[in-house]
Amino acid sequence: MTSIQKCGVIGVGFVGATSAFTLSTSGLFSEVVLVDMNRKKAEGEAADINHGISFAKPCFVRAGDYGDLAECGLVVIAAGANQKPGETRIELLGRNRVIMSSIIEHLMAVNQSAVLLIVSNPVDVLTYMAQKMSGLPAGQVIGSGTVLDTARLKYLVGQHLNVDSRNVHAFIIGEHGDSELAVWSSANISGVDLADYCRITGKDDSFGAMQRIYENVRDAAYSIIEGKGATYYGIGMAVRRIAEAIVRDEHSVLPVSSMISGHYGVDGICLGLPAVVGRNGAESVLDIPLSQDELFQLQSSAQKMKELIDELGD
Ligand code: NAI
Ligand code: 2OP
Repeated sequence: MTSIQKCGVIGVGFVGATSAFTLSTSGLFSEVVLVDMNRKKAEGEAADINHGISFAKPCFVRAGDYGDLAECGLVVIAAGANQKPGETRIELLGRNRVIMSSIIEHLMAVNQSAVLLIVSNPVDVLTYMAQKMSGLPAGQVIGSGTVLDTARLKYLVGQHLNVDSRNVHAFIIGEHGDSELAVWSSANISGVDLADYCRITGKDDSFGAMQRIYENVRDAAYSIIEGKGATYYGIGMAVRRIAEAIVRDEHSVLPVSSMISGHYGVDGICLGLPAVVGRNGAESVLDIPLSQDELFQLQSSAQKMKELIDELGD
């Protein structure tokens, strides 16, 4: 019997440990179990977070093994190699697919009820693999998708317009990676069309200005990894937000990666698209309006994911 107040994190490197921190201090969980092939690392991370927990809401963090995940209603998977400077997410696939297979096999032996949140890269392909291998209902296996990229977009547009990023409504969709796209055609600031908002406030909305913002989002991980070796705070906060939507059954629209069936002519792959997220994971995918050019870019991104999946040959 699983409990949605118990959460597991598999892989507690930079991303998993930061997510464990945001999850255990979120007030959403009574217990967070950390599993890593390096048990001492999991024990150290658990102790470090527990030492600050009296400053947050009660939550017990502990290192464990797969058996300890049996009661978790949500399991976050952040195990595997990260990118070295200049490396793409897709270049991680050879190493991380082996790790993901082994994790899903061990996890399914003890728990088939949890919602799985895949974070390891390349996240769309690994979410696909995890869903297929686990045999769980499609919506029960989701990836962090373009939730982080969308947050980066909101931040940068907010900076450009000097407006609260929470009032920026716009999505990055497609692959969490080099082929992702910004949906500018429906972007708005609290209901005011982006171009109108720029005109009213005298801000630059030229193609060049928007393209620079998009490129900064798309290439954000490369520049952060160049500077500090890994990205983890942004994704840690994104993981907490997705967990919140699941645990509170919020039916929030978030661009997670999930199995796409027939939307925009895309079928049978996982991709980041706005989806309604609640207790069961991704409940439905929204068909937000796209311009012709955006549709073309999305389909190209999907085609790239399909080719990678076909190469898996599983
Ligand atoms: P890291 O190298 O710091 O940590 C990886 C951890 O996984 C290590 O603690 C390692 O012991 C553990 N591990 C490896 N194989 C394992 C297995 N079979 N079972 C259990 N634990 C295992 O890497 P980092 O920086 O934490 O990145 C983790 C993943 O998250 C990478 O694939 C990275 O690309 C991805 N990532 C995804 C983001 C997203 O938006 N989806 C954002 C940032 C990183
Ligand atoms: C990120 O976008 C590397 O996927 C990771 O930060």
